[in-house]
Amino acid sequence: MKFYLAPLEGITGHIYRNALEKYFPGTDRYFTPFIAPDQNRILRTKERRDVLPEHNQVLDLVPQILTNDAREFVRTASVLQEMGYQEVNLNLGCPSGTVVSKKRGSGLLAYPDEVDRLLEQIFEAVEIRVSVKTRIGKDNTSDALTLMEIYRQYPLSELIVHPRTQKDFYRGEPDRNVFGEILSLQYPFPVCYNGNLLTARDYREFCTRFPQVTAVMLGRGVIANPGLIRYLKTGEATGKERLLLFHDEVLEGYRQIFGEDKNALFRMKEMWIYMIHLFTDHERYVKKIRKAQSLLDYRCVVDALFREQELLTEGPMCWNLPQR
Ligand SMILES: Cc1cc2nc3c(=O)[nH]c(=O)nc-3n(C[C@H](O)[C@H](O)[C@H](O)COP(=O)(O)O)c2cc1C
Repeated sequence: MKFYLAPLEGITGHIYRNALEKYFPGTDRYFTPFIAPDQNRILRTKERRDVLPEHNQVLDLVPQILTNDAREFVRTASVLQEMGYQEVNLNLGCPSGTVVSKKRGSGLLAYPDEVDRLLEQIFEAVEIRVSVKTRIGKDNTSDALTLMEIYRQYPLSELIVHPRTQKDFYRGEPDRNVFGEILSLQYPFPVCYNGNLLTARDYREFCTRFPQVTAVMLGRGVIANPGLIRYLKTGEATGKERLLLFHDEVLEGYRQIFGEDKNALFRMKEMWIYMIHLFTDHERYVKKIRKAQSLLDYRCVVDALFREQELLTEGPMCWNLPQR
């Protein structure tokens, strides 16, 4: 099985990816959070910083592009190719309102003909491998197989399926029945699964049901337990000492790129929304982390959490993760 780290805007930037690779190696492929080019600009400062090869110490990194305009996609892909990248990923999954209203991300899935045209124009011009990350529809799953039939016609390097619709956001369970139907078609490229593989137990259940799948993409489960992929591959459980080193490296990385603590703390708090679930009896630390205004307050509560609580190797039965 190949394990990919899902892109999570605001969390899995280069600071996070590099620290993950250093302390919890095992991820076979990383994806950047989406780059959203427009007519005037291909890469914003923040996006450029994230993809610059000298900022990335991971072996296999795939930049992700969010657009419904083939020309913008191809221009961005060629800039990335010049930087040395060999593959880019097209985002057809983002459910956010502002993205969807512009017919981007999962917003485009309501228009299968336009998906078809976009891919046709991209593959006419692009010189680099292209994979797609997709949901299974906009409002319902009635177009799921039509969309897959479209993808099948193109030389994608890989198709990553998150079997929810745009309307589902991250709520409820991904539709594994539809995923099963999708898998029953034949594809000239590998199909990777993504969605709610949050614990080792989830992963094992998934493998029992879909033994033919050869790649999975994990997101919130890894943010909750950065050692999850290493654990699935080697059986080595996440230890507190290593987790603290990882945490400190991410914090220092943010402090350096932001040049001050406020933004760094904001980013750390985003990570803790998920990672807090790895600790026993964590309720009383949640609010304190959220409220910490200074680095000193923050360190006090995080150090207390590490000192006073233990890690849940297999994760709790239910993570109760945010569904936004
Ligand atoms: C905060 C947040 C940011 C995300 N940003 C992106 C993104 O930039 N590109 C993308 O394709 N998916 C993005 N996603 C979706 C994840 O990549 C993934 O598909 C989703 O979390 C489901 O996988 P999981 O259940 O393993 O977390 C984001 C999800 C969250 C919660």
